[in-house]
Amino acid sequence: MVTEVKLCGVALKNPVVPASGTFGFGLEMAGVYDLNLLGGISLKGSTREARFGNECPRIAETPDGMINSVGLQNPGVDALVNDKIPALRKIYSGAVIANISGFSIEEYVACCEKAAPHCDIVELNVSCPNVHGGGMAFGTDASSAARVTRAAKQACGSTPLFVKLSPNVTDIVSIAKAVEDAGADGLTLINTILGMRIDIRRRTPVVAARYGGFSGRAVFPVALRMVNQVAKACSLPLMGCGGVSSARDVIEMMMAGATAVQVGAENLRNPLVCKQIVEELPALMQSLGIKDLNEIIGIV
Ligand code: FUM
Repeated sequence: MVTEVKLCGVALKNPVVPASGTFGFGLEMAGVYDLNLLGGISLKGSTREARFGNECPRIAETPDGMINSVGLQNPGVDALVNDKIPALRKIYSGAVIANISGFSIEEYVACCEKAAPHCDIVELNVSCPNVHGGGMAFGTDASSAARVTRAAKQACGSTPLFVKLSPNVTDIVSIAKAVEDAGADGLTLINTILGMRIDIRRRTPVVAARYGGFSGRAVFPVALRMVNQVAKACSLPLMGCGGVSSARDVIEMMMAGATAVQVGAENLRNPLVCKQIVEELPALMQSLGIKDLNEIIGIV
């Protein structure tokens, strides 16, 4: 039974990848299970300088999901390339995906130049909804998304560049096509959906930043629909992301058009979920008559 997939020539032993922001730098999970069973790991988003992130509270619960407003807390791109990735490479031989965020095109470029030589794939995060003047501001306008993609692609050299798209747009296909035309090698979709909860006793928003990114099982059908729309319109390889929590969801995402599948919020509810999905995939493939996962990519 074949579970290996390839993203721009990068081999993943299976399509399962913990999503950025839900798995730290991998190292935090190393004592929980052997990371080598994962196809790839998308690391916490890095910016040029270290960031403390947003004021607390940053998390709100929702039925079948959550809202986060972390605000890109991270130790900075130098720590990523000098400490985090080298330490991860010592214990993990799969694909390392560096998620890069920024507040200006220059910052994205500087981070890509530093990260690209040390990782297998750069994932350009133009879709974080939790910061002002960066993140999602680049990913919700087709011409800004194209500009940052073009500059980042040049900075990445031969390292494949995936652009992580925002669902907080009227037409995700037009953004995907703009990014494809600007030279992206692949797309990750979707990032979180802008949401809100209110503390009715305090009469205030639950998260200090008022709004945050909604993710978790509840968003799966939205993510699946967007992956399918983009798969039908673009020819880039896709990493499907959003509400994935089971082997069945992985198969659905692949049938919709994803080559690899990221698991996000569910890691926070069940830290073993990626391991469980990898272990459950072969039996599910057998029951569905799938011999090779590559056969089902985009069949729907
Ligand atoms: O707030 C955060 O750090 C989230 C980042 C993202 O959703 O890309």
